[in-house]
Amino acid sequence: MEIPWRAGNREEKTLRIVILGAGGLGSVVGGYLANVGVEVTLIGRPAHVAAIRRGGLQITGLRGEFLIRENLTAVSSADEAIGNFDYLALAVKGKDTYTALEQAASLRARTSTVLSLQNGVGHDDDLLRWAGADKVLGASTIEGGTLLEPGKVANGMTTPTTAYFGEIDGRPSARAKDLTDAFNRAGLPSKCVNNIVQVQWEKLTQIATASGFSAVTLCGLDTLTMGDGLAVREGAEHFVQLSKELIAVYKAMGYTPQNFYAPVSRLKELDRMSFEEAIANVMELSRHLKGNANRARTSMHNDVLQHRKTEVDFIFGPVIAKAREVGVQIPTVMAVYRILKTLDAYFN
Ligand SMILES: NC(=O)c1ccc[n+]([C@@H]2O[C@H](COP(=O)([O-])OP(=O)(O)OC[C@H]3O[C@@H](n4cnc5c(N)ncnc54)[C@H](OP(=O)(O)O)[C@@H]3O)[C@@H](O)[C@H]2O)c1
Repeated sequence: MEIPWRAGNREEKTLRIVILGAGGLGSVVGGYLANVGVEVTLIGRPAHVAAIRRGGLQITGLRGEFLIRENLTAVSSADEAIGNFDYLALAVKGKDTYTALEQAASLRARTSTVLSLQNGVGHDDDLLRWAGADKVLGASTIEGGTLLEPGKVANGMTTPTTAYFGEIDGRPSARAKDLTDAFNRAGLPSKCVNNIVQVQWEKLTQIATASGFSAVTLCGLDTLTMGDGLAVREGAEHFVQLSKELIAVYKAMGYTPQNFYAPVSRLKELDRMSFEEAIANVMELSRHLKGNANRARTSMHNDVLQHRKTEVDFIFGPVIAKAREVGVQIPTVMAVYRILKTLDAYFN
């Protein structure tokens, strides 16, 4: 639920944010924040950093064309990041979290609040161990970013609410509100909520369905997108079965689907509909998705196509553990997980 906020007499100050992992998502979010006056430091790989220093950060995509130079500092290690930060946003892939945080030790004492923009639900625990419970703010986003080449990112996905922030224990806080306001000013519509853990689990349910389906079902041909897969009856059946198992786990935790990322999220409808109705529904959806490769390909699907290690452990690991805990059978989810783990064993 969104937290109503009564303004006090707090002074407006310039926020300073460091983004650890300036790839697709981190660069898009960091770029838009810098564009509205937030002081952003991106920590990324040397080629991306050099290109930004040379010519600024280019963002293309659904919000138009941007070239960001002001308020943006790019560095290739945490030790080069200067000063103190209000927020550190973690945006590396799950497999790189441990190393990135270890390399960012010099930022621990210089950062007031830490949050993860990653997919999955275990990252707040990693941050808690790294920075202490008081510093961790819950976050979730669906905003889409892809690193096209050094210095250039594409922003290919958003929804009417594209990010959520909130304290893990649900209490209102100025730091959650300030970050939400900054995202909204940056054109990234966001909400400050008292149920961020539910948002994270529902996002996981949604992303596990889309990622698991696309990465496993469509990986045989590099031209296929989500729409192509859902246009085939058996593909639609597989998607619906996967989503129903994942929703069953989410509901067994005591949650009810909310469609936080509507209209992309359709968990409410998929839950309500019979198996046959849901198949007809996703086959209809396939017509809208076809022909739009950006919206229709998940990053896990892209990872498989590029033979890069996926986030399988971070996306499916928590769901499988939770399903065991709450006693829900998830045979289709397990099959997807096993296939991805097999592929992952041969990816870099
Ligand atoms: N992209 C999206 O649309 C989107 C949307 C919502 C959530 N997410 C989540 O956000 C996270 C990031 O996704 P992404 O697609 O932005 O990944 P990405 O494009 O691979 O970006 C991560 C970047 O961090 C770099 N990196 C890794 N370790 C580093 C370190 N120690 N120091 C500095 N840079 C480091 C990576 O470099 P190398 O590639 O060289 O390792 C890469 O450039 C994932 O958990 C993803 O699930 C993504």
